[in-house]
Amino acid sequence: MGNISLQTPLLLASGYITETPEFFLRAQPYGCSGMITRSLKQHVPPERSRITSPRYAIFDTDSMLNCEWGNEKPWTDWQDHGIRQVKETGCPIIISLSGRDLDSCCYLFQVFDEMSVDAFEINISCSHSGALHGNLNVDLLHLEQLMKRVRGVTKTPIWIKLSYSNLLIPMAKQAEELGADVVVCTNSIGPGMLIDTKTTKPKLGIKGGGGGVTGKAIFPIALWCVHQLSETLRIPVVGCGGIFTADNVIQMLMAGASAVQLYTAPALKGPTVFRKITAGLQRFFVENPKYDSINDLIGLTFKKMDEHQFSSPRPVVIEERCAGCGICIQSCAFNALSMVRRVDKNALAVISNNCISCNACVGVCPPKFNAIKASF
Ligand SMILES: Cc1cc2nc3c(=O)[nH]c(=O)nc-3n(C[C@H](O)[C@H](O)[C@H](O)COP(=O)(O)O)c2cc1C
Repeated sequence: MGNISLQTPLLLASGYITETPEFFLRAQPYGCSGMITRSLKQHVPPERSRITSPRYAIFDTDSMLNCEWGNEKPWTDWQDHGIRQVKETGCPIIISLSGRDLDSCCYLFQVFDEMSVDAFEINISCSHSGALHGNLNVDLLHLEQLMKRVRGVTKTPIWIKLSYSNLLIPMAKQAEELGADVVVCTNSIGPGMLIDTKTTKPKLGIKGGGGGVTGKAIFPIALWCVHQLSETLRIPVVGCGGIFTADNVIQMLMAGASAVQLYTAPALKGPTVFRKITAGLQRFFVENPKYDSINDLIGLTFKKMDEHQFSSPRPVVIEERCAGCGICIQSCAFNALSMVRRVDKNALAVISNNCISCNACVGVCPPKFNAIKASF
């Protein structure tokens, strides 16, 4: 992307686990090919000097709410040793800065420019701090002031990190017009909320209970954002949000991302998630020899989106995989599925002419059977 070349399309996203380089150093041998620091602030405002607690609420095992907003380690740790440690791996280091305080932001640009970092990522899209302190993610005026100031103080590539909003495209276009080199999307989405029904209190300790939603729950929204941005912008788009598998990465690339960032997956599953994903990507290229490289996948879905699709063939039951569990029957609103007995075998799902190809049965068939296949 621009002046940065990556060994894999996988980067470690900004957050608590990039407060220091340690997590990245463990993930890099597994295929993580660069990192974005925690969003650094020169001065942590007094109202954010302590992090509210509980700071996380994990739900459905793969998604979370968080209400983090400070820096627990001083930013100078990066200047003193963190940057050197990442650079020794040969991978790029991207410094994330909070885009709220423009004077501090410009000061940190100058400090880190002297250390030849690979890019700056400016965070203007934290959902929960936005809700309490002003939503920069939809503030075109702030973005204009920010870009005009920072573009004047550095020649280093600037990545602007945005989140889903109704103003996503105008914000991204403005960032591009004023000199951003990359748009990253998405940050946490929200705020969202969870309540502990025993105590009746919100599960997060932040005033009002609202935190940023991340992880699997946001993947489809993040993918949509990446697709919209990639169709609109000339600069590269980096996809982020809910990526756990090689298939998620491939979808992001097909939607137009040039690379991806992961946070919740490594935070919850550990650094080896990168090994699983790189192995999955390698498998994909072996099974699909028509593609030579990651670049062949970028934006492939654009060509498939021109028109509405109004009909699709019925799904098909793969006889040898069907376990006769009957879950699909519950999902069918049109009485199109029934079970037939088989001699010396379990029952088999059969699809009748009532089927309108809604594909609900495809979605509910347990992954361990994967016995109903969509035909489009
Ligand atoms: C605990 C936590 C802290 C985060 N801190 C930051 C941050 O300091 N700066 C930032 O730009 N994004 C931050 N994020 C957002 C992530 O970088 C990422 O954009 C978001 O979590 C979506 O990706 P994911 O679903 O892979 O986690 C944080 C996310 C979490 C869960």
